[in-house]
Amino acid sequence: MEDFRTLVLNRFSCRKYDTMRRPSLELLADVLEDARLAPSACNRQPWEFWVIDSEGPAREAVIASYEREWIRTAPAFIICLGREAEGWVRPFDVHSHIDVDLSIAAEHICLSATAHGLGSCWVCNFNPEVLRRGLDIPEGLRPVAIIPVGYPAEGITVPAKTRKSADEIIRWL
Ligand SMILES: Cc1cc2nc3c(=O)[nH]c(=O)nc-3n(C[C@H](O)[C@H](O)[C@H](O)COP(=O)(O)O)c2cc1C
Repeated sequence: MEDFRTLVLNRFSCRKYDTMRRPSLELLADVLEDARLAPSACNRQPWEFWVIDSEGPAREAVIASYEREWIRTAPAFIICLGREAEGWVRPFDVHSHIDVDLSIAAEHICLSATAHGLGSCWVCNFNPEVLRRGLDIPEGLRPVAIIPVGYPAEGITVPAKTRKSADEIIRWL
């Protein structure tokens, strides 16, 4: 990627993957390194990343938690989980920043995947209880996002971004 804007423009929600091509462990490890390096409130790093890149009950649990056909095309999943006891809590309003921390790390994963030629997609509309049971996730560890990762299927191209205009969302005070 020649610059950050190009990277941002090239990241998109990929919902169809090449089922014949699996990202190598080295590639996935490289993407995860970018998640590990993400910033977090007070540098608490209240996260875990569970990687599923083969057939088996773990993969089936992810698919059961998110009943969309397209998810089956993804060769790998990275589950982003928050360690609830480790998150920074703002004292003024007792607001936990676990979701903020995990979101930053998850987006590092998506951008890194793009930089490595991989597709990815945020998935939060999963059934947390089904995922918890299927992956045996202990109490105190909260699944925040599932990120499917893989090579985009043939013919999948980066769609144009549909976004609100700068006028609608930015206030220069
Ligand atoms: C927090 C969050 C949760 C999301 N959850 C889902 C999801 O459950 N399923 C899905 O298909 N896309 C999901 N998305 C993807 C969004 O629909 C997508 O990012 C948005 O439409 C913009 O499209 P783009 O990612 O291609 O730029 C989610 C995105 C975010 C940031």
